[in-house]
Amino acid sequence: MSRIIDGKLFAQRLREFIGQQVAIIKTEHGVVPGLATILVGQNPASEVYVRNKARQTVEAGMASFKHTLDATISQAELLGLIAELNANEDVHGILVQLPLPAHISAERVINAIDPRKDVDGFHVSNVGMLGTGQPAMLPCTPLGCMMLLREQFGSLTGKNALVVGRSNIVGKPMAQLLLADDCTVTIAHRYSENLEEHCRRADILVMAVGKPQMIPGTWIKPGATVIDVGINRIERNGKPTLVGDVDFTSASEVAGAITPVPGGVGPMTIACLLLNTLTAFCRSKGMPEPANSGLELVNGIGVIQEFKKAS
Ligand code: GUN
Repeated sequence: MSRIIDGKLFAQRLREFIGQQVAIIKTEHGVVPGLATILVGQNPASEVYVRNKARQTVEAGMASFKHTLDATISQAELLGLIAELNANEDVHGILVQLPLPAHISAERVINAIDPRKDVDGFHVSNVGMLGTGQPAMLPCTPLGCMMLLREQFGSLTGKNALVVGRSNIVGKPMAQLLLADDCTVTIAHRYSENLEEHCRRADILVMAVGKPQMIPGTWIKPGATVIDVGINRIERNGKPTLVGDVDFTSASEVAGAITPVPGGVGPMTIACLLLNTLTAFCRSKGMPEPANSGLELVNGIGVIQEFKKAS
């Protein structure tokens, strides 16, 4: 039986750590980090995500600025709002929830965000910084996965890592972060041949495709660590249920460690968003950053050591 990687608990501790840092900053400097969220239209899943992001921002003691816009808003109007938020000194992080309506270019919008406020790490300059080993804003989900992996392994040097999925939000930055941590990285996607063989060689398997339970336990290398980013809604016994991209029941018989769905990677994403907001704030003020930002650390070690001391 695998070790179940408790992302929910890890994220809770990370949020507590962030909350403590914010409280210290507030006492010493009388200011708090601020995160602006922008939701365009009425995608129900996006509404839930943005609501949770805003709620947890406030719970961590930060300021939340919520912008909910009609689906018919023009691209120019949205760019106007982003320009305002870029100039607003109370706003240290800006998050535009994706997807956007078809008449708006996500690329144009994301690249209009001041890269220093790009707490999603999606701006082309942050993507380039990550790829060239410079201190970037790191995308939240891959960052959360790296923290869980660092906690599991300590050093990842020399591990065979397979990332299945090549999205800009998860797959590609995940591969970059694993590479930066000295893994041998393979990226598989819908056209990859022999996925099963790739899986069998992987010491670390990161699944980010959004296909319910597509990887059976028989494909997994015994003792491997499985990070399941998929969150898929299916019906089981007539009830809506959330499952990952990995078949958890069979995989947990073979893997050394595995993230559950829900309660694995999901909660880490928002905790890392708060961490990035705190980091952006500290950088904007020239204050020391929390002990876990920057590529050199892949934003894990500092916090993990804090946790180990505390527990
Ligand atoms: N849509 C799905 N995931 C994300 C994310 O991490 N950030 C944003 N902004 N939109 C998303």
